[in-house]
Amino acid sequence: MNGFLLNTLFSLLLLFSVSDALSAPEKLGICVTCHGVDGRGNEAVGAPKIAGMEDWHIRDQLIGFQKQYRGAHASDGYGREMKAMADFLTENEIEELIKWIGKWPTDITPTTVPGNTENGQALYAACAICHGTNGQGNAALKSPALAGQNDWYLLRQLDNFKSGRRGTHANDVYGQQMQSMMKTLPDDDAIRDVVSFIQSLPIPD
Ligand code: HEC
Ligand code: HEC
Repeated sequence: MNGFLLNTLFSLLLLFSVSDALSAPEKLGICVTCHGVDGRGNEAVGAPKIAGMEDWHIRDQLIGFQKQYRGAHASDGYGREMKAMADFLTENEIEELIKWIGKWPTDITPTTVPGNTENGQALYAACAICHGTNGQGNAALKSPALAGQNDWYLLRQLDNFKSGRRGTHANDVYGQQMQSMMKTLPDDDAIRDVVSFIQSLPIPD
């Protein structure tokens, strides 16, 4: 964990200890500390873009962190940081936050992961069944949009699924579905290639 993050976490904990009930706008302020202005993602602290994210996916992930489906694995440093944040939120506050985040503009993300886009397109055929042909997501299958997300974040999550840091908890039904799909991406090159293809897709409406 870098110094900036440690400082941020420390001031947040201090803030929470002096006020046990922060209002939703104050908690929103906390989200952008890591997730960046307008929730566009901040690679320096490893926090992904949350602007434009589906309301059900934000809800499911925050609850997943709270219930330890996510962020509980000993070697999932980033997940554990986010879990510490999610743990402070009440059910009502999660709903308030979702309404706010839904109003943020979503913009294209910079390309940071080099890969063979053509090979990635072929590999993506196995993903499209759940995440949609254009990576737009599928609410009925609880498969979130991938297009428009930071490419470095997609890479890390795929690594997390592959290594079992995510998607292995007994109660994490949807994470497990995704984890089992990782066999279609045999190695690091395949993971980078599919991420590079997803990065080439337009941001979903
Ligand atoms: C201390 C920094 C920090 C703060 C503050 C923070 N987050 Fe996060 N958040 C992260 C990191 C890091 C991740 C990535 C976790 C991972 O790699 O699994 C993350 C992941 C998430 C995810 C999962 C996204 C996905 O699709 O996988 C959601 C949703 C989220 N944060 C929402 C919020 C909200 C809402 C707030 C405000 C209450 C917030 N975060 C505050 C650091 C932070
Ligand atoms: C059987 C359906 C299914 C298939 C096929 C599938 N996924 Fe997923 N994927 C999911 C589900 C469900 C989730 C949400 C997991 C959760 O809630 O934690 C997910 C989550 C993800 C995430 C994390 C997104 C985030 O914001 O946290 C990434 C990245 C991802 N999938 C990429 C892929 C790629 C690349 C492929 C093809 C190799 C693929 N998926 C194939 C169902 C699927």
